Amino acid sequence: MIFRQLFDSVSSTYSYVLASRRGGEALIIDPVLEKVDRYLKLMEELDLKLVKAVDTHLHADHITGLGALRDRTHCVTVMGDESKVDVVSMRIAEGDRLTIEGLSLDVLYTPGHTDDSYSFVAGDRVFTGDTLLIRGTGRTDFQNGDARAQWESLQRLLRLPEETLVYPGHDYKGDTVSTIAEEKRFNPRLKARDADEYAALMASLNLPNPKMMDVAVPANIHQGLHQEEVARRGWAFSAEEAKALIGRAGVALIDLREKGERERKGAIPGSLHAPYADLMDNIDKGGLIHELAMSGKTILFYCAFGERSAMAVQAAQDKGLTSARHIEGGMAAWTKAGGERR
Ligand code: FE2
Repeated sequence: MIFRQLFDSVSSTYSYVLASRRGGEALIIDPVLEKVDRYLKLMEELDLKLVKAVDTHLHADHITGLGALRDRTHCVTVMGDESKVDVVSMRIAEGDRLTIEGLSLDVLYTPGHTDDSYSFVAGDRVFTGDTLLIRGTGRTDFQNGDARAQWESLQRLLRLPEETLVYPGHDYKGDTVSTIAEEKRFNPRLKARDADEYAALMASLNLPNPKMMDVAVPANIHQGLHQEEVARRGWAFSAEEAKALIGRAGVALIDLREKGERERKGAIPGSLHAPYADLMDNIDKGGLIHELAMSGKTILFYCAFGERSAMAVQAAQDKGLTSARHIEGGMAAWTKAGGERR
């Protein structure tokens, strides 16, 4: 496995790059906006293709690199179901698996620091965001933080195998990695006997708000792709308009989501499944979507929220597939408009 821990010294944030091999797909956890150039240079040096950018939660102390990475690499942005971010490409929940080529991360919902905090387990290591820090835990006094919920989340993390490596979202003292066993023994916050004692401890901290909070939170909420440009060019249908197109012989409806998303949220009847990860092969000469377009069909892409489909329309148009369109707002808009699902 290729694994890199990157540090932003301004916000003391750790970001993590994972990939299964050189020349393969990569994923980044908690990227920082100011470091985006650095990450992309690293991708180039290691011959990696960034396909997913994930935030463990909505950050208050730095601006996320999610939107910038999506705009520059067309990667998929990922956050939890509970996150107040306006639009991401994909949402995840407890029990999901976050996958890229050759790697699969187990998704654990670990609320408490915020109500949208997640941890990710990848084999021998866990990425704990701001839930469990080295000899500390993330504060619980803003963004719907909840010390009792965090206590429960911490108990879950502590049930992971003792040798599991702990990679946190921040460190302010210079530590880089710990283990579950070490944190059990030496983390002072975990000395509390129960949720009540932990909540009392957290309530006594009286921490000042992060310096960047008033800038970072609003910026991090607005990370959605601007789908207006695709609409302005006449390449978008509203969910309501799309309803009238379903079942027409001249329309090929293409679902770009992953298998797990289709199982969880249902799919539009009659749609073909062609995941976004395979888009470039599918729109190239000889690919499924290319052939459908050449046979005279309108290609109607959709995904979860309209981000992947908007990027797919642009990519297909760039390849000369002039009939490429998408459903604005994706499956979420479709469901809201009362569209049929199976
Ligand atoms: Fe945080």
